[in-house]
Amino acid sequence: MRASRFMILLYASLIGVPILLYLRMISTFYGMYLVSTVLLALASLGLVIFGVIGFAEVYIHKRHVGEYMAMPLRMQIEQRGNERTGGRGTKMVDFVVSRFDNENKTMRNEAYKIEADKNTTVLSALLDIRSKQDQTLAVRYSCRMGICGSCGMVINGKPSLACETNVFDKMADHEITVEPMYGHPLLKDLVTDFDDFFERHMSIDPGRYRHDRREKYSGKEPFKLSREDIDKFLPYSYCIMCGLCLDACPVVNSNPEFIGPQALSQVYRYHADKADQKGAKRLLEVDTLDGVWGCEFAGACSKVCPKGVDPAGAIQLLKGELMKDIAKKEEG
Ligand code: SF4
Ligand code: FES
Repeated sequence: MRASRFMILLYASLIGVPILLYLRMISTFYGMYLVSTVLLALASLGLVIFGVIGFAEVYIHKRHVGEYMAMPLRMQIEQRGNERTGGRGTKMVDFVVSRFDNENKTMRNEAYKIEADKNTTVLSALLDIRSKQDQTLAVRYSCRMGICGSCGMVINGKPSLACETNVFDKMADHEITVEPMYGHPLLKDLVTDFDDFFERHMSIDPGRYRHDRREKYSGKEPFKLSREDIDKFLPYSYCIMCGLCLDACPVVNSNPEFIGPQALSQVYRYHADKADQKGAKRLLEVDTLDGVWGCEFAGACSKVCPKGVDPAGAIQLLKGELMKDIAKKEEG
């Protein structure tokens, strides 16, 4: 806004002052000295006004930017939202939050009202509730940008990352329900226990395995992967371990022994990686009814994955690899 006002002034001065000076030159030429003096005065006045207002605009703008940069990120986002909506685009939104009391092992629903603008995420709304209305509300988060995978919860019935869920996008009849993830043991309110999830992940021995662990110091040519090689496993390496796929999976929810979509997608990730030297070991370990063959291809895992990892697809590829293995053995 300020920048455009400054530009209007700049253009007005750049065009107006030369015109005035040109007219003055003509009037002097024809001997109209009074007119010439008035025109000169107007041109000078224009320059002075431009100088003073321009300086003030730049000074205020600089101060504004300085104050803005000094604000915490959350306030910067709020301010940007208000600027975009002219300070008007806010709505009162009803939140119904499931609270788990870890001492008495009871659940209850708590209703809150928050003022949201079009930039408000469910996570920022919950933090707003926690700072202004109820400081006992337990929420887990870290990065606030869909990277750490800490803020998974069930929002309007769908496992989602709270920091990536916009309140306005989720508003059905002005009400948003927030529950802790179903598939993980509850700790407090919206915070769940991830031990079991990480155990499943670790059970497949994640990590690229090389026979010679010190090869990078041996001075040998580094092992190179082509773009094609990388593309085979790259989509599966985007997993941020948020646990949403496990939460959405109907098989894990009915058979806790099933290893689950996240771990299986990581088996495929390393199996498809040419630089991994573990061979078929991981693949054969999940060649069981609670491994690959436990998947009923409901596809819910891929639908909720915030990173597009497609665990359901990875599991089908693993099945394909195992079938190839069986076919080879039969031929042999
Ligand atoms: S596969 Fe997707 S949904 Fe599952 S843990 Fe990884 S990022 Fe989350
Ligand atoms: S806070 Fe990190 S993914 Fe949401």
